[in-house]
Amino acid sequence: MKSSRPFYPTPVIAIDGPTASGKGTVATLVAAHLGFHLLDSGALYRLAALASVRYAIEPDDADGLAKLVDDLHITFREGLAQLDGEDVSSEIRQEAVGNRASVIAAHPQVRTALVARQRAFRKLPGLVADGRDMGTVIFPDAVLKVFLTASVEARAARRHKQLIQKGFSANMDDLLRDLRERDARDSGRAAAPLKPAEDAMLLDTSALSIDQAVDQVVQWYRESQAKPLRHHDGQGKPV
Ligand code: DC
Repeated sequence: MKSSRPFYPTPVIAIDGPTASGKGTVATLVAAHLGFHLLDSGALYRLAALASVRYAIEPDDADGLAKLVDDLHITFREGLAQLDGEDVSSEIRQEAVGNRASVIAAHPQVRTALVARQRAFRKLPGLVADGRDMGTVIFPDAVLKVFLTASVEARAARRHKQLIQKGFSANMDDLLRDLRERDARDSGRAAAPLKPAEDAMLLDTSALSIDQAVDQVVQWYRESQAKPLRHHDGQGKPV
């Protein structure tokens, strides 16, 4: 007999935005505030990039990389990322790994191979998913999609502050140039370009503190829960 109970999918909040928009910090704090799980999808691409170095798969070998992703032995535990049982949380944050991640992420085969792994993070009571195609491809039925924006100057100033705090030297003109170049590359690529989902809420954080940005996202989420249930086809797609 067919159940007449409505289908309540585990809620997902998808957060995207350009580099240095603060999306990682906002996603982490929103997840902590709501007690939700967190998917840092960039970390998955970074793990795949690191594995490709270790297993000597060339960054242009799309099929080899997709096979590697299928076989990857990775775990996230208490904020730590492990590859083959080894903690690689710091290693995957290196600039060289990030650059390689950006190169391999342009292969549609690699993106497809990561779909199921990303969807597996969707567990009760809910998920905050941070990254490029979270609201468009991975979780199109997310209850809330947020696209964080901030002026390139505000983002460069934040990155500058972060680098100085970490004891690195930083030059504003270089940071501005790098951010502009990365924006152009991210927006211009064919596979999963940087652009807001059609139904995304835009949040300009140029003049907001982190706390104000987090409060706004949580408020939007609460409002989305107060709305009548959207209809789904049972496969996770809104109809
Ligand atoms: O967000 P990040 O810097 O950790 O991401 C590393 C790279 O992975 C970034 O250059 C783009 C890519 N990426 C992606 O293509 N899609 C995602 N959902 C997340 C990251």
